[in-house]
Amino acid sequence: MAQAKTFKVAVGDAAGGTQHELGKKFNEVLMEKTGGKHDAKLFMNGQLGSEQDTVNDASIGTLDFSILAINNVTPFSPTVGALTLPYMIQSLDDAVTLTQGPVGEQLVENTLRDAGVRIIGWAYSGFRVLTNSKHPVTTPADLKDVVVRVPKNEIMLDTYKAWGINATPMAWSETFTALQQGVVDGQDNPYITVHAMKFDEVQKYVTNLRYLFSIEPLIVSESVFQDQSAEDQAAILEAGKAATAHSAQFLLDQESKIKAELTEKGMVIADPADGEKEWIDLATSKVWPKYVDSIGGKDVLNNVLKSLGRDEI
Ligand code: MLT
Repeated sequence: MAQAKTFKVAVGDAAGGTQHELGKKFNEVLMEKTGGKHDAKLFMNGQLGSEQDTVNDASIGTLDFSILAINNVTPFSPTVGALTLPYMIQSLDDAVTLTQGPVGEQLVENTLRDAGVRIIGWAYSGFRVLTNSKHPVTTPADLKDVVVRVPKNEIMLDTYKAWGINATPMAWSETFTALQQGVVDGQDNPYITVHAMKFDEVQKYVTNLRYLFSIEPLIVSESVFQDQSAEDQAAILEAGKAATAHSAQFLLDQESKIKAELTEKGMVIADPADGEKEWIDLATSKVWPKYVDSIGGKDVLNNVLKSLGRDEI
């Protein structure tokens, strides 16, 4: 019988968010399925390095698991970018369809091939809303004097370029301090993440953008996974599935409560002007054409659109 093991799980966010929920549920079900033989210890808040570093570490087998945002996987496996094109995912249903259907299966294969990590679960975190400390933002022109941090992700950088500014690429683990010290004025992340990270202490204005629905994979190092017995592999996969289902429910239960709490704490929330039309038009017309090839070509893109019941391009 294989030795009992405590797996190390890197988690990018602080406690209380969707990543934490996914990790807790994964641990609970893993312990249950292995009769307590294996468990998973969560290292919160970027303790084990930036989210992008944890992909490298899992890839070479020095880290067992990581929970991170999808946008921090794209640099290692460009086809994942199909899920981070602006305005591709328009609801939780879209996110579930893409991650749990054939598109998701293909992405699992691609990240295995490109990065040596296996996606075994997903957290669903909601739309990334824009926060800043300077003034309300409702049109792209309002961004002109706002320095916005984005992950080191080309698609997101190009999206802000389409909206008229050069955003500042920065690791997630450095973001709170940069906001606090005024190195940057703003950032975007889902309400639940803004709350877990206590960004309300350093940010005042929120814009309800819907350009990116944040999905956050739980990845396992493929070499670690292959070292497990068939039984333990099955337990890991089942725990990932159970944690995924739990994460979708957590979002539904928590997002509006957390939004109300952030308002009570003094955040001022605005909707984008004109039903977000200008934001959508600029981002889709300028960003999508540039990334068709890197995400695998027009057929791949159309396949994603078709699975969402949308018109092909
Ligand atoms: C990022 O902005 O780098 C990530 O989306 C943060 C996260 O993992 O929540």
